[in-house]
Amino acid sequence: MSHNLLKGKKGIIFGALDEKSIAWRTALRCVEEGAEIVLTNAPFAIRMGEINQLAAQCNAPVIPADVTNLEDIENLFIKTKEHFKGGVDFILHSIGMSVNLRKGNEYTNLNYDFMQKSVDISAISFHKILQTAYKLDAINEWGSVVALSFIAAHLAFPNYNEMADIKAMLESITRSFGYKYGMKKKVRINTISQSPTYTTAGQGISGFDGFTTFAEKMSPLGNATADNCAEFAVTLFSDYTRMITMQNIFHDGGFSSTGVTEAVIATLDK
Ligand SMILES: NC(=O)c1ccc[n+]([C@@H]2O[C@H](COP(=O)([O-])OP(=O)(O)OC[C@H]3O[C@@H](n4cnc5c(N)ncnc54)[C@H](O)[C@@H]3O)[C@@H](O)[C@H]2O)c1
Repeated sequence: MSHNLLKGKKGIIFGALDEKSIAWRTALRCVEEGAEIVLTNAPFAIRMGEINQLAAQCNAPVIPADVTNLEDIENLFIKTKEHFKGGVDFILHSIGMSVNLRKGNEYTNLNYDFMQKSVDISAISFHKILQTAYKLDAINEWGSVVALSFIAAHLAFPNYNEMADIKAMLESITRSFGYKYGMKKKVRINTISQSPTYTTAGQGISGFDGFTTFAEKMSPLGNATADNCAEFAVTLFSDYTRMITMQNIFHDGGFSSTGVTEAVIATLDK
């Protein structure tokens, strides 16, 4: 059901790989709510993934951009401005990749070249996107930018590895750039800290199944799905959340505020 929350709005969605992706679900929901979008992903992901199917469904162009590459990002904004004949109202950064996780390196045995690559893709890319948009004046007044985070930025989780530190940086960029862009143009910038979600990136974390079940048992409302996340992102892109900026908002069914639940105690009681 559509409420036309994004009628007349234009946006860029980064990170739709396949139909499980949070970005994929969000792209569909934004279009349902009346938005026009541009889709983007890294060239290798466009070749390997299914983004062209999504593009057809959303009537959206796909403009490739490796988010570690400033020229790609600049080209994306220039082409998007041409396409929309103006700036955008919202941006979703739904990008994450840990090279050390992929290579099976423990947190106590990180390869630092890999770590730098992971930081570049998953956190500095957010700064690169915002700085490029800022310089090209590519986001309209009262625009909204959202990135995806995870609670491991605040609490220790054994298997989240270097991504915990990287998400902490992502959340910090959200505050620092949120200040600058808010002052300059009333652009708001927030992160959504999402429940564990079955996607390609999520399933790359070892012990993901067990942790997802644990989070479900630890959340009064249960885990938030990718579709729930898409709906929440739509509200952040809408005009009804105009005064929220520089925040990390937990979208996790209550997990982050729960000490323990009866369901978890029951599994441990002797
Ligand atoms: N799945 C979860 O459990 C979960 C929980 C909390 C937060 N998140 C975050 O949500 C976001 C989206 O992940 P997802 O779970 O939908 O997984 P996903 O694998 O579907 O999406 C990750 C995307 O990042 C893109 N990407 C990787 N390297 C890139 C590059 N160099 N340039 C441009 N794009 C690049 C991939 O192509 C892919 O589309 C990530 O930031 C992730 O950390 C996921």
